[in-house]
Amino acid sequence: MKVTKSDLHRLIKNKIMLAGLSEEHADQTADVLAFADARGVHSHGAVRVEYYAERILKGGTNADPDFRYEQTGPCSAILDADNGSGHVAATYGMDKAIEIAKENGVAVVGVKRMGHSGALSYFTKRAALEGMVALSVCQSDPMVVPFGGAVVYYGTNPIAFSAPGGEGEHITFDMATTVQAWGKILDARSRNQPIPEDWAVDSEGHPTSDPHAVQALLPIAGPKGYGLMMMVDVLSGILLGLPFGKNVSSMYDDLSKGRELGQLHIVINPTFFTTSSYFERAIKETMAELNSMQPAPGFDKVYYPGQPSDEIEKESEISGIEIVDEIYDYLISDAIYTNSYDHKNPFNG
Ligand code: NAI
Repeated sequence: MKVTKSDLHRLIKNKIMLAGLSEEHADQTADVLAFADARGVHSHGAVRVEYYAERILKGGTNADPDFRYEQTGPCSAILDADNGSGHVAATYGMDKAIEIAKENGVAVVGVKRMGHSGALSYFTKRAALEGMVALSVCQSDPMVVPFGGAVVYYGTNPIAFSAPGGEGEHITFDMATTVQAWGKILDARSRNQPIPEDWAVDSEGHPTSDPHAVQALLPIAGPKGYGLMMMVDVLSGILLGLPFGKNVSSMYDDLSKGRELGQLHIVINPTFFTTSSYFERAIKETMAELNSMQPAPGFDKVYYPGQPSDEIEKESEISGIEIVDEIYDYLISDAIYTNSYDHKNPFNG
């Protein structure tokens, strides 16, 4: 089923409001989710709405949170999001970080006690469109075996980065520190499609291509991805006084309890280091130089990091977004959630 981004936004917003969020919070939540589908990140778009709706209805997402924002220094701030929608909390935190960086050059804003915030590039792109460089990292439920380990410890702990190229252009790169995000397994499950064997392992630790058999994910590039996961956990968990490592809450455990997650935004104003005209011109040149390089055998083109997602986003504006039929049917139905989806326990077959 193909839908326009604005129709998808409206359907998601309505469902989230039906589940109990205010119009303002539902609107912001839908904005992040429709953005993800528009960029081809289906793992973090409409596929998650039923889960979010159930958690809102059961009270695990606070529908009326008391956001407590405190600027703790000239360049630092903390938002305690009272377990409200992670999408709303992370947007609030990023907007504050942009404000501080415009004024003081650099901003480090921690968002703590928040829900799941989806595709992190939503937040960093927001900063790049304001002329800022941004990095965002967050905790995620433990589902990854450490390098050399047999049991789960870290989450898929993603990292997103954006830099402005002027006139609405930007480089935006956004990845989980696992070979693939857990949501990609969910998406493969919803489409009943096999996954590549290097993404995940089954209950015995063997590589598997069956998304329904996945028991743990693998870090990217062995010990290097494992090290990046540790850095994300320190910056968005320990630094904010939150649970860390294997004690980070699970998305599917108790839907009536807040997730208590953390996210850290770092925003840099390039004009405090060089001129914005040099910075933006150089970013544009980087993008062009990479695109004009000779591709290796088997490749048609060298993309700048994140470019495939930018291209999907542009194409979505023109020809709409492909949504799995069952997800569309759920979105247009009156149900807040059904018991038919298998997303409650990531390792539950
Ligand atoms: P991915 O593997 O689909 O893409 C990673 C990055 O590589 C993207 O920026 C993409 O545009 C870029 N890319 C892909 N092919 C390329 C090529 N040929 N040349 C240059 N660049 C290329 O992303 P992944 O790791 O599956 O993550 C998906 C999303 O999941 C992200 O938005 C991430 O923030 C989100 N996520 C959120 C979590 C949370 O707890 N909030 C947890 C984990 C992931």
